[in-house]
Amino acid sequence: MASQTDVSPITNTLAQRFTATRRLSLDLVATLSDADASAQSMPDASPAKWHLAHTTWFFETFVQRDHVPGYRLFDDRYAYLFNSYYEAEGPRHARPQRGLLTRPSLDDIRIWRAHVDTAVQTALPDLPPAALTLVELGIQHEQQHQELLLTDIKHLFAQNPLGPAVWQNEIASEVAQYSAMKWIEGNAGIAAVGHGGDGFAFDCEGPRHDTLVAPHALASRPVSNGEWQQFVADGGYHTPSLWLSDGWTWVQAEGIDAPAYWDGDRHFTLSGWQAIDPAAPVTHISFFEADAFASWAGARLPTEFEWEAAAAPLDTASGQQLDSAGPVQPAAAADDADLQQMFGSVWEWTGSAYRPYPGFRAAPGAVGEYNGKFMSGQFVLRGGSCATPRGHLRASYRNFFYPHQRWQFTGVRLAKDI
Ligand SMILES: [Fe+2]
Repeated sequence: MASQTDVSPITNTLAQRFTATRRLSLDLVATLSDADASAQSMPDASPAKWHLAHTTWFFETFVQRDHVPGYRLFDDRYAYLFNSYYEAEGPRHARPQRGLLTRPSLDDIRIWRAHVDTAVQTALPDLPPAALTLVELGIQHEQQHQELLLTDIKHLFAQNPLGPAVWQNEIASEVAQYSAMKWIEGNAGIAAVGHGGDGFAFDCEGPRHDTLVAPHALASRPVSNGEWQQFVADGGYHTPSLWLSDGWTWVQAEGIDAPAYWDGDRHFTLSGWQAIDPAAPVTHISFFEADAFASWAGARLPTEFEWEAAAAPLDTASGQQLDSAGPVQPAAAADDADLQQMFGSVWEWTGSAYRPYPGFRAAPGAVGEYNGKFMSGQFVLRGGSCATPRGHLRASYRNFFYPHQRWQFTGVRLAKDI
């Protein structure tokens, strides 16, 4: 049996990151009651308690059950409750009814988490490489759920006329005025894109391959709230010529006339109702809205490879990202770089369909269901948001949502042909 001092530096780093990630999830729910953490506001969103439980199920199933001889499940019934979408793991509780799970309690889930945390930490020094890969995947998976937990609790609290706040602090932009948007000429020609080399990446980020990028320019920063207010005032939501057909149908069917959470000059945030900051990036817009705004502005959405070619030399840990439990809302850029807020602040819709790269193969087994089976009808978003845990992002990172969805911190950076 290896002792704690025998742990290799690499494994030790993994252990530290495991512990820190598991702790942050608990910190994010520290101010929530059991009722807050159990309610579900819509089928797309999950209760905070469910996120805490599902991420625990992931480690218990794919690390402890599959790689630690003799491990006994904490509760045999939990797999049915907290498997999300893994067909290979059997039947599961219906997603739209996760909010009906008033039992197990939030405290019960905390106890389960502590049990699995101890088990993984104990097992780590002796885990084979294949299992260490799954611990890494479990950490990355939990980071994704931390962002979802925040956007889901925001959506839940927005339904409450009391307008509750997760954190009371008011969020102020670092600058009073947004910088003038500039056009930055992009890298054109054959570009190598996708993840290659060492380090973690999700399977959908590879294989690395060459692609042709046409001459283009990217906006120096995401579209601001103030610019979006001009779009609204100009009748953008009532001008069918600006919209894709599916988008126009959606706007009319849903009665959409502003980004989600807007009410006049206020919007709902994780710190309750706040005045809209004209300088901050607009957020909670759908792909349809992003595309219509680009049409109104005489521009278009960037392709995911235009974005990646520009982001490749930049610091992935830069910008406004999640460091700890506290107020989360995109703010105006404080820097004067040519390309601002590429990482963090708001996810940027691209015009690229979420489809496999040439040569893509999903991993064998249940974890092969992680990304590949969702490559239908969704669009790629790049760059992360203010709710993405710092350290989680890469230039090759591909997020994806359906074109009508907007409860994530989604925004838009314009592009144009030159
Ligand atoms: Fe998940």
